[in-house]
Amino acid sequence: EDALTRIRNIELIELGKHRIQPWYFSPYPQQLTKLPVIYICEFCLKYLKSATCLKRHMTKCHLKHPPGNEIYRKENISFFEIDGRKNKPYAQNLCLLAKLFLDHKTLYYDTDPFLFYVMTEKDDRGFHIVGFFSKEKESAEEYNVACILVLPSYQKRGYGRLLIEFSYELSKCEGKTGSPEKPLSDLGLLSYRSFWAATIIEQLMHHKETFPSGEENALSISQLSQLTSIRKEDVISTLQQLNLYKYYKGQYVMVISDDMKEMYEKSSKKMRVRIDPQYLKWTPKD
Ligand code: COA
Ligand code: NA
Repeated sequence: EDALTRIRNIELIELGKHRIQPWYFSPYPQQLTKLPVIYICEFCLKYLKSATCLKRHMTKCHLKHPPGNEIYRKENISFFEIDGRKNKPYAQNLCLLAKLFLDHKTLYYDTDPFLFYVMTEKDDRGFHIVGFFSKEKESAEEYNVACILVLPSYQKRGYGRLLIEFSYELSKCEGKTGSPEKPLSDLGLLSYRSFWAATIIEQLMHHKETFPSGEENALSISQLSQLTSIRKEDVISTLQQLNLYKYYKGQYVMVISDDMKEMYEKSSKKMRVRIDPQYLKWTPKD
């Protein structure tokens, strides 16, 4: 990839009620790169060169939500599943939009092999896109997320964590463990580490009541992985980071520490909004 193609080429986008400054290059048509603002339909994600064109488009575009199936709704949060083959224009426009905020990922022009899970927030005007993740229909490496994005206007409010939690709920339905595709961005890694830590501590606390406290290996790595669908390697790295996994007398042991209750309380405060699996209406396709 040459240096030129990595330079930010779009000045500003307007998406619904948000005006957002892009972070990185995205291969929108050349003629749009000279404009002060490009206008994006917040429902079908079509890009337009002026407010007038958008207005005209809005009289014809009757979407009030992303295309595809709504597979989750609780209160104002919904998830839509979009097949990159069946809804190609939408998927391609979503990739173009996402690339504005992703530096290192290759943009997949061929959206056929992917499913897209778009999270929306609902009000009386419709279902507004907050973020999404993509997922390969078949991943040899058992990745459960390819790209993940929360639009900048919604970042740092816990939505990234919700997307990640949702991706693992899908893996649980599939009876598989998963991991995000590498490399992750710095923000991506921060978000995953935080989610993994909170999820694992939650399980350990939950099972602390079942097992006498302090008992070593109350839950094994495999059990933690099975319960959470977090891949074993990610469980281990998280336990090491939390200082709960130590080399002792020639073998690794899990050490349930006293600070854990404190860690648990801290992390559960951050997880006020959760994915509630009973609202997930989804079965894996095979
Ligand atoms: N600085 C410091 N910490 C940050 C952060 C920032 N800018 N953004 C997120 N975090 C931390 C939060 O503190 C939180 O941890 P905590 O709960 O332990 O405090 C955790 O990451 C998740 O935060 P959350 O608010 O749920 O994340 P988000 O909604 O901002 O979404 C991303 C996170 C990664 C999806 C978002 O930053 C994004 O879309 N980035 C651009 C695309 C990208 O890099 N994707 C990942 C690679 S594919
Ligand atoms: Na993972």
